[in-house]
Amino acid sequence: MSNVEWTKEQQDAIYEKGSNILVAAAAGSGKTAVLVERIIHKIIDEKIDIDKLLVVTFTNSAASEMRERVLDAIYKKIDENPENENLQRQITLLNKSSICTIDSFCLEIIRNNFYELEDISPNFRIAEQAEIELLKQEVLEDIFENKYEIEDEDFIKLIKTYTSYKDDTPLKELVLKIYSYIQSNPFPRQWLEDKIEMFNINENLLEEDFSKTFWGDILLKQVKEEVIDSILNLEKIEKRLSLEPELESSYQTIRKDIEQLENLKNNLNNWDKSYEIANNIKFVSWPNKKSTLEIKEQAKNVRDEIKKKMQKTFSKTFIYNSKEAIKDIKDMYNILSKLQKLILEFDNEFSRRKREKNIVDFSDIEHFALQILNRL
Ligand SMILES: Nc1ncnc2c1ncn2[C@@H]1O[C@H](COP(=O)(O)OP(=O)(O)OP(=O)(O)O)[C@@H](O)[C@H]1O
Ligand SMILES: [Mg+2]
Repeated sequence: MSNVEWTKEQQDAIYEKGSNILVAAAAGSGKTAVLVERIIHKIIDEKIDIDKLLVVTFTNSAASEMRERVLDAIYKKIDENPENENLQRQITLLNKSSICTIDSFCLEIIRNNFYELEDISPNFRIAEQAEIELLKQEVLEDIFENKYEIEDEDFIKLIKTYTSYKDDTPLKELVLKIYSYIQSNPFPRQWLEDKIEMFNINENLLEEDFSKTFWGDILLKQVKEEVIDSILNLEKIEKRLSLEPELESSYQTIRKDIEQLENLKNNLNNWDKSYEIANNIKFVSWPNKKSTLEIKEQAKNVRDEIKKKMQKTFSKTFIYNSKEAIKDIKDMYNILSKLQKLILEFDNEFSRRKREKNIVDFSDIEHFALQILNRL
């Protein structure tokens, strides 16, 4: 592709060095071309052998495409430069280069270093998806059965919270869903722990205003953004209405909306005050005095939209006062901790059975490879 004129953005993606880069662009816009050129640039200008690069894809076909296009690109360079021995050597090295799927890369790490892991013997097998799903169900059934039998208190609490009468499927589904979800994280257990600890409100804050907590703070910031935005938009129509003496009553209506929102905005550092003010904001009805002026109708539409948006935000945010909100988060933490315990139990048992059968699944492959890389 030596005759291609790369765009400025493509050049950035080709030559950027020493930092992580993310290239996101439309289908067919040249992402693979850029990546191939990046590799060629590393080989030729930075004198890095192709077998020292790791190029991973998600699918086998993408890996083959990549390999082929790199080979083509090297041949093109050789055409321009037939004497170049470095380029010729790269063709040989390409055979043992790591241009592959992420799964086959991880698998290779495990096969070459399995002795680093306690959880696996060298003759492990990758299980079929169906086998894995079945095993998960089996493990879950067994855990649930045992918990019913010993009348595990935490478990009964979870059943009461998440399931309906005589059907515990929703809790089973929840455990599996969260378990699967956290597997996409490098350190699933730690990640889950961190997220759940976010609900563990610090003792010192229990009697404080809800705005002092992580959750209260986030909620108020969100409301603030929306309120500021609404005020700005209302002020724009206020300005236009102020030029029309016959629309004085509409002007006053908007004025009143702004005043109320300003008052809320100035108190958004305190949850209970905001709760009080937001729940008492009244958007009075729009004056129905007839007018032929177009701006009146426009102003009404803008205002209606803002009114609807603000009312929706208030009704979903200011449900509880500080005391109730903090209690709600505390209750949630209590339940989530029990759920976390159940998920970890599932994880332990599921891992144990996989080990027993000497099988791994695709998420094991990634996590084992990461464990090894972290140790090396
Ligand atoms: N700056 C450019 N000038 C001319 N042709 C270009 C340029 N950038 C890319 N191309 C060409 O556009 C075509 C599509 O590029 P490429 O296959 O790299 O896109 P892609 O983003 O990887 O596509 P997909 O989303 O399908 O994977 C190729 O033929 C490539 O050579
Ligand atoms: Mg592509």
